[in-house]
Amino acid sequence: LKRTKIKELLEAPIIGKRVNVKGWVRTFRNNQFIALNDGSTINNMQCVVDFENTDEKTLKRITTGACLSLTGDLAESKGKGQSVEVIVEHIEILGDADPEKYPLQPKKHSLEFLREIAHLRVRTNTFGAIYRVRHAMIFAVHQFFTERGFFNVHTPIITGSDAEGAGEMFRVTTLDPLNAPKDDEGNVNYKEDFFGKETNLTVSGQLEVETACMALSEVYTFGPTFRAENSNTSRHLAEFWMIEPEMAFYDINDNMDLAEEFLKYLVNYALDNCAEDLAFLNQRALDDEKNKPQQERNEMSLLDRLKFIVENDFERITYTEAIDILRNSKPNKKKKFQYLIEGWGSDLQSEHERFLVEKHFQKPVILYNYPKDIKAFYMRLNEDGKTVAAMDVLFPGIGEIIGGSQREERYDNLRQRIEEMNIPEKDLWWYLELRKFGSAPHSGFGLGFERMIQFITGMTNIRDVIPFPRTPDNAEF
Ligand code: 4AD
Ligand code: MG
Repeated sequence: LKRTKIKELLEAPIIGKRVNVKGWVRTFRNNQFIALNDGSTINNMQCVVDFENTDEKTLKRITTGACLSLTGDLAESKGKGQSVEVIVEHIEILGDADPEKYPLQPKKHSLEFLREIAHLRVRTNTFGAIYRVRHAMIFAVHQFFTERGFFNVHTPIITGSDAEGAGEMFRVTTLDPLNAPKDDEGNVNYKEDFFGKETNLTVSGQLEVETACMALSEVYTFGPTFRAENSNTSRHLAEFWMIEPEMAFYDINDNMDLAEEFLKYLVNYALDNCAEDLAFLNQRALDDEKNKPQQERNEMSLLDRLKFIVENDFERITYTEAIDILRNSKPNKKKKFQYLIEGWGSDLQSEHERFLVEKHFQKPVILYNYPKDIKAFYMRLNEDGKTVAAMDVLFPGIGEIIGGSQREERYDNLRQRIEEMNIPEKDLWWYLELRKFGSAPHSGFGLGFERMIQFITGMTNIRDVIPFPRTPDNAEF
């Protein structure tokens, strides 16, 4: 008898049908009721054991975490909580889970504890839901761009360039650090390396995807990116996934339009396709709220926050307007935002972003036209000579979820910027050539996939929305 997935049996049950289900025991009650989960859905299948006719030894092996293959007839359930159940006639134990040693018990474990057992935490309701939502979002990303005629491009993971110019890169080398050949000044001579030059893990696929944009018009890359920033926050990972669309003939306004449409599409897709998992996560988030201090509590439930995004326009303001709002805000008068008084040109800190999004506008905000000196070299210089056509999308509870810009397509301007920022031109000769041969106005942005998953699942720590988080404090698994 072929196995049927539990999701299928719950959605389209045929009463009286003989079925086989395989999965992991969540609970075993009264020596009779197994709650079996196979991951196809958050819901368990209740499987009823005829304990009087089952040997004691087998019954003892039905424990939380054990893997079973159960065969029996599908019946209407008299009990509360489920409409159908399997009346078990044959039990096969595929894998035992010693109850003395198995770390997961049918109770609520803390997220901190679960992080230490990343290999098992996917067996909980919370992480099962997160993994399924993550999958749905990956699919939605590809669907969104495919529907709009974009082409997906794989950009390299090992690269010689530093796209963000921030120097937060992981070196890649085949040389033994202790015995590496050195030049006269004692620096490692990468010419002897397998790659023949200094290479690193990519911080962004943008520069490479721009090459495809200058031929295919509308493209996107979706891959892992790496940042060696030593920050232990609930929003930063050393390894995260980024979606980076790049569009020829788009200016900064077209870019903002696409970013807003994209974010709404993803949230809407989750609402339409992940209803059961989101209902669970919504309840989970409500329970969580009770443990938070009053001022940090969300006024809206997770589901309401998601619906709000889909139904409301984002606010769009320039950096300069944002500074004015912050200067005149009440908390500033209490000197909370004192550092901004230093003046126009300083970067916004997360507390400022939170104020704008959560207090002042109470909706997502797109900030654009930033001072050129706090942004990357490739952003297009505006007419005023001091700002660039950059845009950041700020989300409630998350902060910056998207960063993007119109790109500098003018050869001379770009070269000058590269020089001003002391970036070796020899590393970017190919990028400059895009401006030498058939240059075109173009724009793009990067969405941090895990920050998006945080928003959609309501998880407060980014370590809990990626299967194996890489952070300065954890790379064990
Ligand atoms: O603002 P960032 O650094 O922009 C870029 O990398 C551009 N090249 C994107 C582009 O225009 N094609 O990063 C983009 C987004 C951020 O808004 C944030 O959501 C996410 O990537 N991000 C991180 N997510 C998790 N951990 C980190 N350490 C992150 N750094 C950035
Ligand atoms: Mg950014």
